[in-house]
Amino acid sequence: MAKNVVVIGAQWGDEGKGKIVDWLAEETAGVVRFQGGHNAGHTLVVGGKKTVLRLIPSGILHEKLDCFIGSGVVVSPEALMGEIDELNAAGVKKVEGRLKIAPTATLILPYHIALDQAREASRGSGKIGTTGRGIGPAYEDKVARRAVRMVDLFDTEKLLPKLQANVEYYNVQLQYLHQAEPVKLEDVLAVIEKYAGRIKPMITDVSRTLYEKNQKGEKLLFEGAQGTLLDIDYGTYPFVTSSNCLAGAASAGAGVPPQMLDYVLGIVKAYTTRVGSGPFPTELFDDIGAGLAERGHEFGSVTGRARRCGWFDAAALKRSIQVNGITGMCITKLDVMDGIDEIKICVGYTLADGSTTDILPFGADAVAGCTPVYETLPGWKESTFGATEFSQLPANAQAYLKRIEEVCGAPIAIVSTGPDRAETILLQHPFA
Ligand code: GDP
Ligand code: IMO
Ligand code: MG
Repeated sequence: MAKNVVVIGAQWGDEGKGKIVDWLAEETAGVVRFQGGHNAGHTLVVGGKKTVLRLIPSGILHEKLDCFIGSGVVVSPEALMGEIDELNAAGVKKVEGRLKIAPTATLILPYHIALDQAREASRGSGKIGTTGRGIGPAYEDKVARRAVRMVDLFDTEKLLPKLQANVEYYNVQLQYLHQAEPVKLEDVLAVIEKYAGRIKPMITDVSRTLYEKNQKGEKLLFEGAQGTLLDIDYGTYPFVTSSNCLAGAASAGAGVPPQMLDYVLGIVKAYTTRVGSGPFPTELFDDIGAGLAERGHEFGSVTGRARRCGWFDAAALKRSIQVNGITGMCITKLDVMDGIDEIKICVGYTLADGSTTDILPFGADAVAGCTPVYETLPGWKESTFGATEFSQLPANAQAYLKRIEEVCGAPIAIVSTGPDRAETILLQHPFA
């Protein structure tokens, strides 16, 4: 029996991770974010009521659950507190009491945001299309060993010189490389003074707490952000985010042994989307793509940007399945495919030299050289929206799902047919 499940995005993010984490969280003792920051936007719909979470784990609506932010997450104090306040205002109980943050998590401070935005402006048409939330610079600080971590907030003697040095370091880049406004030390200190007192009670030895819960046989759910094709190592580099978004990152980012990760649930949209720049072999520029965007409401939950849409890419999925060790897939947004006459699945690529491959290569340049090889399947006219049983799906929708399983080589455990928690078909429970 699986005690712990890792949920990861298997494409370029926004696959519907939040919905499924919320749905699976019910029977667990805790939900853990292990990487990324408030670049994530995870949408939960319960009884028609929508909640968008950015940093807080998608288990928070279950009021008996603890939620954990592990060391691998980069945390903006302002974004965190803004989100807590929104949840409090929405009537969610004891959010601050149930949220535990690792002392070694890295902070996102105003200079990270300023540099992220200044760099993007300087890149012009070569921009990565970041969320502008300071994610990249914060991870750089961590690796460069100059990060301000949660635990540093309470050692004021050491904190001030550290902040002074960082402000100086960032201002050199802002002013001289990007002709941007420098950041003021007092503005950085003001953020810390405003929020440190509220953060302090939430700081917990997350690694130990999770270990102990596991020892007691309690179930845990690890919630990935972004998606495998945005992974810093295995994605379409440099058009990626700045963390590892793979299932394996749950171990390092939460501080738990890899043996604790029993089941990897890959969240897979029934088509493909991408937000921001970078290659996307199956992207559609026609009415079908526009239809997917419209029916799927494909606008970013964080930045409101339009998401690019395209056909399902099984060759990219094959890569995801291999690097994550996906035990089962959850196919989301099947309902958005309703009404399309003919559906295409990308099963491989033709490369510039005329050779073919059945798996997505690494890095933006290699992916940009991939021309999809498609298989065509008949679509369906009936509505799948809200279906809760596989047998309710039209025969062609069932055939589409079966073909995805065959080409990708992993079983489908869950199918999602609408944004609401209830609009879900269970085939094989990940915790069973
Ligand atoms: P995440 O970042 O992976 O959590 O995904 P997002 O929340 O950014 O984007 C997924 C969007 O699709 C959200 O607006 C969800 O409410 C919505 N959604 C999730 N599953 C389904 C589904 O099966 N059908 C439809 N129509 N919408 C869905
Ligand atoms: P969730 O968790 C989709 C993309 C950005 C940009 C690139 C780098 O909701 O699936 P960053 O700000 O991280 O440095 O931006 O990564 N990106 C996402 N795209 N969903 C996300 O999160 C994303 N988080 C970052 O659009 O292309
Ligand atoms: Mg999202």
